[in-house]
Amino acid sequence: MSKYNVTLVFEDGRSEQILADEEDTIYMACLRNKIRILVDCMEGACATCKGHCVEGEYDLDDVSDEALSDEEAAQREVLTCQMHARSDCIIEFPYESRLAFKTDPQSWLCKVAACEQVSSTVYRLDIQRLDTEAEPPSFMPGQYVHLSVPGTEETRSYSFANAPHDSETYSFFIKALKHGVMSDYVRGRAQVGDEITMAGPFGHFYLRNPECPIVMVAGGTGLAPMLSMFDHMIETGATTQPVHLLIGANEPTELFHLDVLEGYKSKGILLTTEIAVVEGDADWSGETGQVTSLLRQELIEGSADVYLCGPPPMIEAAESWLAERGVDSKLVHAEKFVPS
Ligand SMILES: Cc1cc2nc3c(=O)[nH]c(=O)nc-3n(C[C@H](O)[C@H](O)[C@H](O)COP(=O)(O)OP(=O)(O)OC[C@H]3O[C@@H](n4cnc5c(N)ncnc54)[C@H](O)[C@@H]3O)c2cc1C
Ligand code: FES
Repeated sequence: MSKYNVTLVFEDGRSEQILADEEDTIYMACLRNKIRILVDCMEGACATCKGHCVEGEYDLDDVSDEALSDEEAAQREVLTCQMHARSDCIIEFPYESRLAFKTDPQSWLCKVAACEQVSSTVYRLDIQRLDTEAEPPSFMPGQYVHLSVPGTEETRSYSFANAPHDSETYSFFIKALKHGVMSDYVRGRAQVGDEITMAGPFGHFYLRNPECPIVMVAGGTGLAPMLSMFDHMIETGATTQPVHLLIGANEPTELFHLDVLEGYKSKGILLTTEIAVVEGDADWSGETGQVTSLLRQELIEGSADVYLCGPPPMIEAAESWLAERGVDSKLVHAEKFVPS
């Protein structure tokens, strides 16, 4: 009997990975993991348990047309009380996780392993789990966690910059704002060994199976989740599709990890990059302007999976540009770094 990893993603972004036996329906597999997804009839007739299987192979037992039309089935809508996984799957549910969970998202006590300035405004924070026996977080590349700010009661959201297979050290790129709770911590107080809590994972912004060319737009530390995605692509050999990455920063001194991006090219990713800074300096000979000014029709010709990450105005400008050109919103994945 085969077992598969099934990732459940809820509307609020909380996600949980369970191991599902192919004999079990997804509903049963959830119950075995103490997750109560919404169900009613249990016969494929009411659609209460409906979700959207973003990725993976599956079979459905008995479903009525009223609960799942042919069109919905073609779009990979699924009735999870009738669904059996036939490979690893990702299923999104259109309601908040609190309806399915009695417990808070999992959290891990960690310690700071390094905090290094990598550009004029960006710090890389590396943390390690203290309890190395505990299960590591199961996240998808692109997702984020809540980090506590040491010495305060506050938490802030940060995207993993490392890939899921790398469960020793977790890396985050944090922009130090002039005034901000986490910003002040990374700029001034962070010490190796500080205790810090990581809770999650969360987020709908994760790498889909690359089946067509990929366009990424990263504003500032919005590059972090893209790094996680690149490392994952290399680890899994999912490097057949070209990736065009547009990077934006306010000034050239804010740019970071350009050498690492170059390294990805020699590791098999078909990566091309372009950079725009809002204000160049005397040494800057590249593009100036907002990163969205680098978007061009040729990048989205045919079909492309688009990933946008960074400050809200950047995401909104990119989404409008894409919508005006008729790009299917299902192909556009975005993470706004709103103040948390
Ligand atoms: C899903 C998600 C993922 C994210 N991932 C990342 C990431 O990978 N990297 C990253 O750098 N950021 C990320 N962010 C943003 C991050 O969560 C924080 O919002 C950001 O780092 C600022 O946190 P802070 O504690 O330094 O600032 P905060 O203390 O939250 O302050 C935020 C803003 O409010 C202003 N402010 C603070 N106090 C006052 C005051 N008293 N009066 C007026 N204004 C004030 C500050 O100047 C600052 O501009 C993410 C956000 C989300 C939602
Ligand atoms: S619970 Fe009614 S269709 Fe699944």
